[in-house]
Amino acid sequence: MRPIHLCYALQCLPVAWSSVTIYNQRPLGGVTTAAAPSAAVSGAAATYTGAAAYDPTVLVAPPVPNPAPPAQFFQQLSSAPVPGISVPQSGHFYGFSVEFSVITQVLGLNSTHLQVPFLNLMSNVAKRGGSVRVRVGGNTQETATLFPSLANKKIMQKQAQNTNNPTQTPELLYTADVLYMLANISALVNVDWYLGVPMNDTTHLRLGIAEAGEAILGNRIVGFQVGNEPDQYALHQHRPATYGPADFSNEFGTVDAALRADSKVPVVDGKLIGPSLSGQWQPQQIWDVDFIPNHQKSLAALSMSFYPNNNCAKVFGGANATNAVDPQTVFPSYLDHTAGQKIAATYLSSTALAQTVNLPFVMMETNTASCGGFPGVSNSFGSALWALDYGLQLAYSNFTNALLHVGGQGVYYNPFTPPPTNQSTFRSWSIGPIYYSVLAVAETFGTSNKSQIIDLQMNGNNIFTPGYAIYDSGTLARLALFNYVTDPTGASAYTASFAIGGGDTGQPNGTPAQVKVKYLLAPSVSTKDNITWAGQTFGAAFQSDGRITGTEQIQTVTCKSDNTCDIKVPAPGFALVFLADVAADKESYTDVQTFPTTALTKTRNTLTINPSLLATSNGQAGANFIEAGTSQGQSKSGAVRFLPHLTVVLCIAFGVASVMWGTQT
Ligand SMILES: *[C@@H]1O[C@H](CO)[C@@H](O)[C@H](O)[C@H]1NC(C)=O
Ligand SMILES: *[C@@H]1O[C@H](CO)[C@@H](O)[C@H](O)[C@H]1NC(C)=O
Ligand SMILES: *[C@@H]1O[C@H](CO)[C@@H](O)[C@H](O)[C@H]1NC(C)=O
Ligand SMILES: *[C@@H]1O[C@H](CO)[C@@H](O)[C@H](O)[C@H]1NC(C)=O
Ligand SMILES: *[C@@H]1O[C@H](CO)[C@@H](O)[C@H](O)[C@H]1NC(C)=O
Ligand SMILES: *[C@@H]1O[C@H](CO)[C@@H](O)[C@H](O)[C@H]1NC(C)=O
Ligand SMILES: *[C@@H]1O[C@H](CO)[C@@H](O)[C@H](O)[C@H]1NC(C)=O
Ligand SMILES: *[C@@H]1O[C@H](CO)[C@@H](O)[C@H](O)[C@H]1NC(C)=O
Repeated sequence: MRPIHLCYALQCLPVAWSSVTIYNQRPLGGVTTAAAPSAAVSGAAATYTGAAAYDPTVLVAPPVPNPAPPAQFFQQLSSAPVPGISVPQSGHFYGFSVEFSVITQVLGLNSTHLQVPFLNLMSNVAKRGGSVRVRVGGNTQETATLFPSLANKKIMQKQAQNTNNPTQTPELLYTADVLYMLANISALVNVDWYLGVPMNDTTHLRLGIAEAGEAILGNRIVGFQVGNEPDQYALHQHRPATYGPADFSNEFGTVDAALRADSKVPVVDGKLIGPSLSGQWQPQQIWDVDFIPNHQKSLAALSMSFYPNNNCAKVFGGANATNAVDPQTVFPSYLDHTAGQKIAATYLSSTALAQTVNLPFVMMETNTASCGGFPGVSNSFGSALWALDYGLQLAYSNFTNALLHVGGQGVYYNPFTPPPTNQSTFRSWSIGPIYYSVLAVAETFGTSNKSQIIDLQMNGNNIFTPGYAIYDSGTLARLALFNYVTDPTGASAYTASFAIGGGDTGQPNGTPAQVKVKYLLAPSVSTKDNITWAGQTFGAAFQSDGRITGTEQIQTVTCKSDNTCDIKVPAPGFALVFLADVAADKESYTDVQTFPTTALTKTRNTLTINPSLLATSNGQAGANFIEAGTSQGQSKSGAVRFLPHLTVVLCIAFGVASVMWGTQT
C-alpha cells in the first residue's frame, strides 16, 4: 500500500491544462431548491407545472391492513442451502437502463466531459456489488444511426418528439464518441454495457453500433440487444398488423447473419440478446417458434422488459386523459409482496428454460409504470420498498440481472435525474428512492458472484412482511426483511426472531453471538425526501453530487442465550441483516479497503483511490476541491480541466477528501 496524502485542489491539479473535462454539479451557493411539501397532495403539487422528475406530489399512505400482520414471529433458518434456492447471483443484479436519447444529460457531454455525479452513483454500486451493468438503449435505439461527425462537435442529436404520438420515436444521430465515452467511464468505474442494434428497418440494417462498439468497448459489452419490445412493433405501426413471434425470430436471424457477414464485427457468438418482449406476446409464444435453438450460438442472454402499469392515458390520452390512472388508487398495488411475485410468476417457466440452455435471463427494462410512472408513487419511499422486493423476487425467480429504466426530466420514476441542462451549473442531481434499492440489492448479494436467495414466506407468508435469506458461497450470510406498513404510532413495527440450525433441523446450532443490521428507512411509504440507508442520504431534489452523505449507522444486535436473535423492522422499513463473519459478508463502507484505479493508460501518475470514501465522505470536502479550483480561476462553469496524459481526473471526478498517489512509473 502506498502512503496516503491528503489531496487538496491545487495539489491535485496538473501543471498544464488538459482535454479531459470533468463536469461538476455542486451548487455554487445561493441556490433555492424545489419546495418540499409537508402535507399529502400539497397545494404546491396541485399547481405544479414543472418537469415530472421534480414533481412534489405526496400521496396518502394506505392505512394499517386489517387484520394487521403479526408483530412478533419466529423463523427457523438452515445454515446450509435449502431446496428451491436461486441460481448464483451477483451484486450487479440490479443495474440501470438509460434511454439512448438522454445519455448526454446523464453520462456525459462526450468522451472527455463526463458527469461526475453519474460516476459517483456507479461507484457506490460497484463498491458494494463488485460491478455495475448499464444498458444504453430503449425505444430510441431503434432509429439510432452512427455518423462520422455531427455539427458543433456534438456526439448526439435528436429530432423533437411528437408528444401527441407515442408511437413516433425520435430519430437519433450519434458519433463513435458515444462509445469512447462509455469506455472512459468503464476505465474509471467497473461498468459493463448492454447496447442495442437498431431494428426499425431490417432491409437496410445499420450495424454501426456493433462495429464501433466491439472496436471501442470490446469485452466491456455484455451483449447487443436485437429488437426492443418487438411485440409492440405492430401496435406502433412499425410492422404489419400480422407481425408475429415467427416473423421476429426470422428478423433476429437476419440481423445475426448480417453481423456475421460484417468483417468489422469480429465476434457474434454469444453476443446477442433477445427477445425482450414487453408482455403483449407471452414468452411461450416465442419459445414455441424455436427462438432459442435457432439462435443459440449467438445468444448471450435471454431477455424481457416489463412495466406493471402505465400512465399513457395521462401523457398521450388527449381528451381521454381524464380517464387516466389515479396515482392514489394504484399506490397500494405497489405496497405488498404480491407486486413483485405477480411479475416474476409470468417468467418462471422461461427462467427454468434458460437454465437448461445455460443462458442468463435479463429484465432489460423495467420500472414502476411506463409512460413516465405516477407522481407520488414512482418517486416515493414506497417505490423503494417495491423495487427492492421486486428485484429480490426476480433474483429468487432465477432472473440474473434487472435494469431500472432512466428516462429524461419528463418521468417520475428515475433512480437519478441530472438537473435541467440550463440549470446544470448551479443545481445538483436528484436521487430517486429506487436508487437506494439498487444499493441495498448490491449489498444483499455482495461481491462473490455466488449468492443464492430464497423467499422465506415468513410470518405466515404475510404479504406485508416478506423476507428472504441469502446464502453466499454456500453459507447462510444475510437476511432481507421488509415491512410495507406505514404506522406512525410504532405499533406495526415487527420483531422477527430467528435461529440458525440446531433444534429439529439436524444441524449444529449456528446462531451467531451477534449480528449487524442496516436499515432503509423513511417516515412513511409516501415520503419523497427523507430516505436513509444506514443513516445516510442523498437528500431531496437538486441536492446530490452522487455521494451519500451523513454518518453510516450499523446496528449490532446481540443474540439471546436461547440461541435466537430478535430483529426489529420499523413500519415502514427494510432491514438487511448480516449473519456470518465470512469474508464475503461485508457491511460497512467506511473502512479503508482500497483498489487501484488507473484513469488513463500511459500515464505519468498512477492514482489509487479509496472508494469507500466515495460512499461515505460528506460532500463538503469534495466541494472544497471544486471551489478552490474555481477560486483559482482553473475552472469555469463548474468544469475542471486536466491534461489527457494525467490521471488526476479522479481526484475531482469523485470529489474525495483523500486519495493515494503512486509514483511515476
Ligand atoms: C467535449 O465537450 C466539451 C464541452 O462542450 C468541449 O469543450 C470538448 O471539446 C468536447 N470534447 C470533444 C472531444 O469533442
Ligand atoms: C429507420 O431509421 C432511420 C434512421 O432514423 C431512418 O432514416 C429510416 O427512414 C427508418 N426506416 C424506416 C423503415 O422507418
Ligand atoms: C477517452 O476518450 C478519448 C476519445 O476522446 C480516447 O482517445 C481515450 O483513449 C479514451 N480513454 C479511455 C481510457 O478509453
Ligand atoms: C379516447 O378513447 C376512445 C375509446 O377508447 C378511443 O377510440 C379514442 O381514440 C381515444 N382518443 C384519444 C385521443 O386517445
Ligand atoms: C430457480 O432455479 C433453481 C435451480 O434450478 C430451482 O431449484 C428453483 O426452483 C428455481 N426457482 C423458482 C422460483 O422457480
Ligand atoms: C430553463 O429552460 C426552460 C425551458 O427551456 C425555461 O422555462 C426556464 O425558465 C429556464 N430556466 C432558467 C433558470 O433559465
Ligand atoms: C463477478 O462478476 C463480475 C462481472 O461479471 C466480475 O467483474 C467480477 O470479477 C466477478 N467477481 C468475482 C469475485 O468473481
Ligand atoms: C425531511 O426532508 C426535508 C427536506 O429535505 C427536511 O427539511 C426535513 O428536516 C426532513 N425531516 C426529517 C424528519 O428528517
